[in-house]
Amino acid sequence: MILDKDGIVFAHITEFMRKIRRQRSGELGSLEHSARKSGYPIVDPETSDLLEILCRIKKPVRILEIGTCIGFSALLMLNASPLSEIITIERNPAMISPAKENFARFSAEKIRLLEGDAADILPTFTEKFDFIFLDAAKGQYPLFLKECLRLLEKGGILVCDNVLFNGRVVTKIPDIRRNKTIINRLSSFLEDLESELSVKTVILPISDGVTVSVKEECTDEKALP
Ligand SMILES: C[S@@+](CC[C@H](N)C(=O)[O-])C[C@H]1O[C@@H](n2cnc3c(N)ncnc32)[C@H](O)[C@@H]1O
Repeated sequence: MILDKDGIVFAHITEFMRKIRRQRSGELGSLEHSARKSGYPIVDPETSDLLEILCRIKKPVRILEIGTCIGFSALLMLNASPLSEIITIERNPAMISPAKENFARFSAEKIRLLEGDAADILPTFTEKFDFIFLDAAKGQYPLFLKECLRLLEKGGILVCDNVLFNGRVVTKIPDIRRNKTIINRLSSFLEDLESELSVKTVILPISDGVTVSVKEECTDEKALP
């Protein structure tokens, strides 16, 4: 039995969805399976399907990912939008090394892995992206949101993972003390995102909570932060 994530998703529904879901096949399916088995924090199955479908619909050409881990979601997005070039950022050496191995194994020359803290790297970018996937430290989401909005092209899509933090963003009850800061930061991230007029956002109560935003085609640049 899969545990209920504090009311975001009922356990029996997740269980049903995962039972009926067609598993990813091929090399990517094997990587997904082994990454989950080894306990790497890659996207949940439902979020992976959402990412794949959004990439297939949008067909982005320049993707930015914040939080590479071992490279699964970057490879998934490349597979779903083969014309894209992907920049992915990772700060943890324990993840960088397997990510590099995986990108080499999949001959993913169109994925560029930047090593370091996204808080330092993002402000150096000037070129925009038409698809951004934010999947990094939740305490930094308000900061990263500003950069994502700056770097997102008109008509571009922004996907942010783990925005409900096991429902604690709603209940405001931290399991441990230091999570209080994360809850407060994620709450202000969601308020900032919802009040941002340059994008239209939906909060999806799947996995740990995922937002999907699209940047308006017509934005008043002066209104942007
Ligand atoms: C949830 S995992 C990413 C999973 C990956 N997107 C996937 O689904 O295959 C989050 C990753 O973000 C990295 N990370 C967290 N904060 C970061 C930051 N400020 N800069 C760069 N990487 C960061 C962590 O080291 C971790 O590997």
